[in-house]
Amino acid sequence: MSIRSIFFFFLLFFLGFFFYQFVYVSQNPHIPSSVQKQKKPVHILIISSWRSGSSFLGQIFNHHQDVFYLFEPGHSIWMRFRKEGATLLHYLVRDLIHSLFTCDVSSLQQYLPRGGKQISEMSFFSESRALCSPPSCSGYIPSGGFDRQKCFYRCKNATLDKMAEACTKYSHVVMKTVRIFDLSVLLPLFRDPALDLRILHLVRDPRAVASSRKYFSLSVDDRIVLKGFIGNNNIASTQVMEKICNAQLAINKLAMAAVPVLHDRYMLIRHEDLALEPVKNVKDIYEFVGLKMSDDMERWIHNITHGEDKEKRGFMTFSRQSSKVVQKWRTTMDFKNVKEIQHVCKDAMEHFGYLPVKSIKEQKNMTLDLIL
Ligand SMILES: *[C@@H]1O[C@H](CO)[C@@H](O)[C@H](O)[C@H]1NC(C)=O
Ligand SMILES: *[C@@H]1O[C@H](CO)[C@@H](O)[C@H](O)[C@H]1NC(C)=O
Ligand SMILES: *[C@@H]1O[C@H](CO)[C@@H](O)[C@H](O)[C@H]1NC(C)=O
Repeated sequence: MSIRSIFFFFLLFFLGFFFYQFVYVSQNPHIPSSVQKQKKPVHILIISSWRSGSSFLGQIFNHHQDVFYLFEPGHSIWMRFRKEGATLLHYLVRDLIHSLFTCDVSSLQQYLPRGGKQISEMSFFSESRALCSPPSCSGYIPSGGFDRQKCFYRCKNATLDKMAEACTKYSHVVMKTVRIFDLSVLLPLFRDPALDLRILHLVRDPRAVASSRKYFSLSVDDRIVLKGFIGNNNIASTQVMEKICNAQLAINKLAMAAVPVLHDRYMLIRHEDLALEPVKNVKDIYEFVGLKMSDDMERWIHNITHGEDKEKRGFMTFSRQSSKVVQKWRTTMDFKNVKEIQHVCKDAMEHFGYLPVKSIKEQKNMTLDLIL
């Protein structure tokens, strides 16, 4: 072969390769753009407590095309070990999250009710856009927005093997959990060179949390939080709130003390700040984890935080006037109950900048700002 034919051979090969890249990659919108770059993935854990807006923050990640998002994987562990306490289950939840960050689904399979063959064994699978898209689910290709109802019916047969495959295709793996009460349990994850972990710690005014918890049945979870406590419901819910407040405070204090380990890897977010200035705060959060905010994404965030309930499907209605939601507890909650929560959560409220009310008049006076 002459030098010239070798040259033409290579020229043809490269042209063919670029043509393939152009046609295949640019025509296939379901390959997240990040995969084409092949960088080391970023692992993001949202830690929070019940009714604190973590589903909302999770959805903001779920909507991003570079994110593989799982809603509350620790739920399967808590449902499996209902008689145990949160302190023991921490470690199982931590190890499960660790495996899932590396796209290993084998431990999750052990906790699921039928051996973890299909994603429908996970209670909240249809909350995850990535689980509802190829390669996890090829039967349903979301177009014009992700529809969890359609996903629920069309993707329930998808396997966990496919889920693991899908997980490796994204630049960011994100999970949220309300089941970690102690940050020290998570610290070993920062030492694993396979992980690039960021923690987003989301807190909310305890009075709003307590008020919102009333509308949800959390008795199984509460029993695990209090480990077996069975008694008067009102006492139990105040005790749960006390435990949650102390845990949120301790998590933040440890994060501040562990600055060398957690440098640039821990971010505190108040739900109220997110609700009152969603676009600005989401931009900061995205920057912290290295995600780009598109114009379309910005419009979507504005839409879901300023409209009336548009998206009623699924149990998470996050499309509403989020600035109104922040103050809602002040009109719905008994002053007596407010005082109880302010008492058991005093330190956490002071630390995170939530001002107490001294009278029912102050509670109902909406011009009085209670957030520092
Ligand atoms: C899921 O599997 C069941 C049982 O094999 C089958 O009857 C059903 O049609 C499947 N559903 C979808 C959406 O593929
Ligand atoms: C925002 O809401 C409007 C009106 O409902 C809708 O037409 C538009 O598509 C939405 N935009 C995004 C990016 O979701
Ligand atoms: C409500 O609070 C504002 C701000 O502190 C105060 O100026 C106003 O007098 C209060 N209104 C009533 C009815 O107490």
